[in-house]
Amino acid sequence: MIFTVAIDGPAAAGKGTISRAVAEAFGFAHLDTGALYRAVGVKGGDPVLAAQSLTAEDLARDDLRTLGAGQAASRVAVNPEVRAALLAFQRRFARRDGGAVLDGRDIGTVICPEAEVKLFVTASAQVRAQRRWLELGGEAGERPLAGVLAEVRERDDRDMNRADAPLRPAADAVMIDTSELTAEAAIARAVAVVRARLAVMPRG
Ligand code: C5P
Repeated sequence: MIFTVAIDGPAAAGKGTISRAVAEAFGFAHLDTGALYRAVGVKGGDPVLAAQSLTAEDLARDDLRTLGAGQAASRVAVNPEVRAALLAFQRRFARRDGGAVLDGRDIGTVICPEAEVKLFVTASAQVRAQRRWLELGGEAGERPLAGVLAEVRERDDRDMNRADAPLRPAADAVMIDTSELTAEAAIARAVAVVRARLAVMPRG
């Protein structure tokens, strides 16, 4: 069965948590497409060459989740040639047999406009910055909350205002605002949308 769940939204809105849970609930494969851009961003050198020659090792680096890697990713992600180099792999993954969940910024709009389910997961910048800050250690960490908020806003601004594949909800996306939801509640909403769509899939 070909069945794609496209999950888009800004940084730290809860896409990763929801995507992993949806993939597990339905036995679908999961691709965190942000990791591709992060790997290109931290690799250094010519980003187009890096995107064209990305390896499994690049994707297994343990420094991909840092704030710096996120910023580097959003800088290389404005380059249309970088995006083009990563397109075919993502499309193939989306339409693989057995179902796939992809999370990113342009999955429902560019990578897989034919996705059976499109979710746009969002939350206020303040809430997203707070979550990122807690992940980085909160009061005991090295980053002040105001600095993390500024980085979240800078990345949102770059992702939403780039010319190629800007971050925006697809016209047919279901919106999930996680600002005031627990992770469990957000997951339950996403799972319900997928289940409802699966129920009307033609058999065979
Ligand atoms: O989702 P994550 O925070 O890991 O993404 C890092 C950056 O990669 C984003 O800020 C965005 O600039 C870029 N990205 C993208 N398209 C995607 C996934 C990520 O442009 N599908």
